[in-house]
Amino acid sequence: MSKYWSETVRNIKPYVPGEQPKDRKYIKLNTNENPYPPSPRALEAIRKAADETLRLYPDPSGDALRDALAARFGLARNKVFIGNGSDELLAFCFPAFFEPGGKPIVFAEITYSFYPVYADFFRTPYRLIPVDDGFNVPVEGYCGENGGVLIANPNAPTGRGLPLSDIERILRQNEKSVVILDEAYVDFGGESAAGLIDRYPNLLVIRTLSKSYSLAGLRVGFALGAADLIEGIIRVKDSINSYTVDRLAQAGAREAIADDAYFQETRARIMRTRDRVTRELEKSGFTVIPSQANFVFISHSRCAGRDLFHKLREKGILVRYFDKPKIDNYLRVSIGTDEEMDRFLEAAADLCRRGT
Ligand SMILES: Cc1ncc(COP(=O)(O)O)c(C=O)c1O
Repeated sequence: MSKYWSETVRNIKPYVPGEQPKDRKYIKLNTNENPYPPSPRALEAIRKAADETLRLYPDPSGDALRDALAARFGLARNKVFIGNGSDELLAFCFPAFFEPGGKPIVFAEITYSFYPVYADFFRTPYRLIPVDDGFNVPVEGYCGENGGVLIANPNAPTGRGLPLSDIERILRQNEKSVVILDEAYVDFGGESAAGLIDRYPNLLVIRTLSKSYSLAGLRVGFALGAADLIEGIIRVKDSINSYTVDRLAQAGAREAIADDAYFQETRARIMRTRDRVTRELEKSGFTVIPSQANFVFISHSRCAGRDLFHKLREKGILVRYFDKPKIDNYLRVSIGTDEEMDRFLEAAADLCRRGT
């Protein structure tokens, strides 16, 4: 605490990202990174972009990458924008669409834990929608009077997805609010609302290349929505930092999007591993929330989540534990390679057999 801090900084409880350990080599299943390398074509494009042009600023609006994304989603360029990871775009959405001190925005009680941090930081009131014991979020919760709607679909850390029919209902019931769909994990089996953009002026889809494109280290996210929503995000960006996505990132992301065969192959592999891991965990007595993401959310009646987290860590396997009501007996386990998951399955089954 410093006497020089602003009131906001004094009061904020910042988001705590998953550990990036340096003490030893772990099987790292704690931050939903992709276990497979990025597209070789993307890596080559990054290497090629690392030349003398780095003395120049990047294109502040990233038009070449926007065009690649626009073509991929069948949208006009002015309905697409890019950011330094989807976290940055989500942050920009708060001052762009939600009023400080205005009507509360709504999001699920159990969802991405960055949302309440942004809300506090930007002084946006919020209302949490209670979930049931299986972490289902009732659609009606999103449908009353509100100042905006924020939905991770599929949800994190549970992996549960909402079908498009529910999303459309929410969009229709919220004509006066912007509905933000954070589709960070949608490529692993969720239903994307990207195809609805031309029909709903209040819909904004936020995506990332961090998960399904294996590019968490490059920091590229993108937003899809009506042109005036996109313009709102650009106005925020240009009031904070004009050059959010660097030259290497723009070049690498373009090529990653272009290499569709590689993308399809790796995401299919992850979904296959996830479904196998789910079956194996269930055989070992775990409760596994059905996941449409690249992670599973699990608990075991004989092993406390916290203990299992620590015991797995001692064995060199890192997963994510959230010390929060309703989920403090659960672990979120990212889907790694088949070999990594075999090591995890063996360790988890062994620990629970012994009743950790
Ligand atoms: C639901 C959700 N949204 C957004 C993000 C942020 O992704 P990015 O790396 O694009 O900032 C994450 C990362 O874990 C996430 O879980």
